[in-house]
Amino acid sequence: MYPIHRNRRLRATESIRSLVRESLLTPNDFIFPMFIAEGTNAEVPIPSMPGIYRRSLDLTVKEVKELWSLGIRAVNIYVKVNDNLKDNTGKEAWNPNGLMQQAIKAIKDAVPGMVVMPDVALDPYSIYGHDGIIKNGDIANDETVAALVKMAVSHAEAGADFVAPSDMMDGRVLRLREGLDSAGYQNVGIMSYSAKYASSFYGPFRDALDSAPKDADIEVPKDKKTYQMDYANRIEAIKEALHDVEEGADIVMVKPGMAYLDIVREVKNAVNVPVSVFNVSGEYAMVKAAAERGWLDHDRVMMEQLYCIKRAGADLISTYFAKEAAILLNQ
Ligand code: PBG
Repeated sequence: MYPIHRNRRLRATESIRSLVRESLLTPNDFIFPMFIAEGTNAEVPIPSMPGIYRRSLDLTVKEVKELWSLGIRAVNIYVKVNDNLKDNTGKEAWNPNGLMQQAIKAIKDAVPGMVVMPDVALDPYSIYGHDGIIKNGDIANDETVAALVKMAVSHAEAGADFVAPSDMMDGRVLRLREGLDSAGYQNVGIMSYSAKYASSFYGPFRDALDSAPKDADIEVPKDKKTYQMDYANRIEAIKEALHDVEEGADIVMVKPGMAYLDIVREVKNAVNVPVSVFNVSGEYAMVKAAAERGWLDHDRVMMEQLYCIKRAGADLISTYFAKEAAILLNQ
């Protein structure tokens, strides 16, 4: 008998393939990242991210309603902070009437079921474009963590369902958990950016928020390598994820996605909490650029990417493709 195995039987038709498909992708796997700015009826396109806008609150709310109708159940939110509100303490980050706090309230009021996951990190608020407070030429870990706790509690007060620390300071998950609990927010979850690499794939995101590390009057690191991870490392990612679970993270994240799917699988195998993957701005930009030139089939490459992220072990995916992919999945 030759061949012994006719594996192609299971690939013969789309019906058979759909019966034996190992991974499933649905709109409720997605978290849609949104950029918010001051103003009304304002919509500014991000040049390096075609199809993505920085929107005022009113238009953000409109968009959130549309996302909901497509089956998307979660949003990450990021704000563009006016320069006059930036300093080296980040104090605008816990202003109860700040743009982020207003955004959380407005989204929860309009679509109460939407899971709102604001970003917790100081970079949009920092005059130096860093995720923390600068002291003696570096990011001061423990002082930054104390600031992040105030920020996260103010997000919880505004109605956030989860807080999503993306700063990579040590010990922040434990302090955030303690801070939320003692303020009475035991039910607000933590989705920790656990294995977040110092990646050049974040370029377009920093364009969107004008949050790249900047030249300064004092000595400031020119990149984020003293807190975000070295992309040559693997074991360290497992260590980071395990520490965050131990400190109380409800969901751990690996970021970026595509070039880091080995890490996604390792983390998935190591932890007993859901794993989220951030399919970041640069990954989005590359597909858009190649598709614009006719070099890649946009929709097919998008779906392949998202399925492969699921297959690698993601339970949730933060992706700028969420809306387009949901539309295709709903057809
Ligand atoms: C900031 C933050 C970044 C991203 C999410 N939160 C940028 C950075 O760390 O410099 C990147 C997201 C993306 O590229 O899509 N703490």
